[in-house]
Amino acid sequence: MKVRKAVIPAAGLGTRMLPATKTVPKEMLPLVDKPVIQYIIEEAVAAGIEDILIVTNRAKSAMDDYFDYYPELETRLNQAGKEKELFEVRRAADLANIFYVRQKETKGLGHAIWRAKRFVGDEPFAVLLGDDIMKAQVPVTRQLIDAAETYSASAVGVQYVATEAISKYSSVKVTPLEGRVFRVSDMNEKPTPEQMLSNYAILGRYVLTPQIFDILENLTPGYGGEIQLTDGLQKLCHTAPMVAVDFEGRRYDTGNLRGFLEATIDFALDHPQTGDWLAQFIRSKAKSL
Ligand code: G1P
Repeated sequence: MKVRKAVIPAAGLGTRMLPATKTVPKEMLPLVDKPVIQYIIEEAVAAGIEDILIVTNRAKSAMDDYFDYYPELETRLNQAGKEKELFEVRRAADLANIFYVRQKETKGLGHAIWRAKRFVGDEPFAVLLGDDIMKAQVPVTRQLIDAAETYSASAVGVQYVATEAISKYSSVKVTPLEGRVFRVSDMNEKPTPEQMLSNYAILGRYVLTPQIFDILENLTPGYGGEIQLTDGLQKLCHTAPMVAVDFEGRRYDTGNLRGFLEATIDFALDHPQTGDWLAQFIRSKAKSL
């Protein structure tokens, strides 16, 4: 099972980050020196993905512009001898083959993924949610592809979350298979602590087979009145093998203010241009708190 394609749903309205996201797509907010979406695309590419579909909406054209060439700017940088900046500006446009489709109606994550049907065709594909940024030695998407290949199954990326937090996610019913991999037999979206199936929550990464599209096409709206990917996956795991990978790495939800700030600080601490300076700044700041 070779996974060459990825889908990045990025058509949400960004209502948790207003007013900043009123005119700037949340995926374009800068995390240190790159927009959030670039980290996602870099993870996909590092996992071996070649073709990427971004599911967008009418307010998100800044994303397609970002992954395009920008001749006036590049000429100016070239003339000014700004080689590093020129390299980075070009690199963003050459990361992968990027395609776009609009969701047209905000009807939920399952509906956004369904829009990828024509792009995906008859191959397995990865899904990377545009808000969930990972810091990991081995790209989380790669960890999932490896498990999907080993078990000839769909795969969802999970981590253990506190019972009080499970209602922000989907929970999965799992039985251990081997190491960090579990067999999935059920799941539900945004459960209450009474409804949850386990403390393992799906956190923004999936490897799916195209069977999901027929299921999504016939789904009725679920939680929040939206077509939920989780509801589709629940049906899929009843008819085809699915594994959950308790992935190694730290996940940041950049779609809310706290997660965004945590990611900003952690990535800035790791960045060669800002790491030492920021560590010093935080130390001196901490003394005065
Ligand atoms: C989405 C999914 C949910 C998943 C979560 C984190 O929810 O619907 O199943 O657990 O992402 O990846 P959202 O954050 O869009 O509410």
